[in-house]
Amino acid sequence: MSQRLKVRPRFLSAWLRNPRQVGAVLPSSDGLTQTMAAQVDRGTGLTVELGAGTGAVTSALLTRGVTPDRLIVVEKDQILAAELARHFPALRVLEGDAARLRKLLRRSALGLADNVVSSLPLLSMRTHTRIRVLAQIFAILHPEGKLVQFTYSPRPPVPVRLAYALGVEGERIERVFWNLPPANVWVYKRTRMNLTATRSGIKTLHNDTRAPGVY
Ligand SMILES: C[S@@+](CC[C@H](N)C(=O)[O-])C[C@H]1O[C@@H](n2cnc3c(N)ncnc32)[C@H](O)[C@@H]1O
Repeated sequence: MSQRLKVRPRFLSAWLRNPRQVGAVLPSSDGLTQTMAAQVDRGTGLTVELGAGTGAVTSALLTRGVTPDRLIVVEKDQILAAELARHFPALRVLEGDAARLRKLLRRSALGLADNVVSSLPLLSMRTHTRIRVLAQIFAILHPEGKLVQFTYSPRPPVPVRLAYALGVEGERIERVFWNLPPANVWVYKRTRMNLTATRSGIKTLHNDTRAPGVY
């Protein structure tokens, strides 16, 4: 495993444009991106990557074996999104806000996602934005799908009470020390109770669970 910390001028200038949105000065290390990608099962499921930046996690997902036709990449920063589209011509790169994820994905018509892999700075977001983003994520996730999320904080990236309200539970999978700053990788899934409710068609508070394939 390469242990380089990469300085990327484009990433740095995105941070200078909008430090709160970018949330980091350096892209994720190989150790972190590989740990994130390892949580994604190899197979034909759909993976949506949020906050792709300069594509560090994107590359790890492709190396992991996610095929380009089953990977959708979302990035809010216009310049980074254009750069991603240029660098990964085989991928669907959507420039847009994860808070409007359902609308963004509607045109792709690929159905629900099996994995959402997110580098979004959730804990730097305003509370109402964080709730909106997470509700959108779980609305586009298959009932048995997972959200892979990293955070630099020792706290969970989804505050415990919010996770409860969303009907999801998280597990810290790994602490990656070789990253600046060190990061924790979490995986969130619907709780068993929510899964049962979802299967029987009962809607939960924020979790708009529509029939698979419909946003
Ligand atoms: C910490 S950087 C991670 C970049 C890259 N994935 C990596 O790990 O090196 C977070 C990225 O999320 C993007 N971002 C932040 N808020 C977003 C939102 N609401 N919707 C889509 N992308 C967003 C930022 O522009 C930035 O590129």
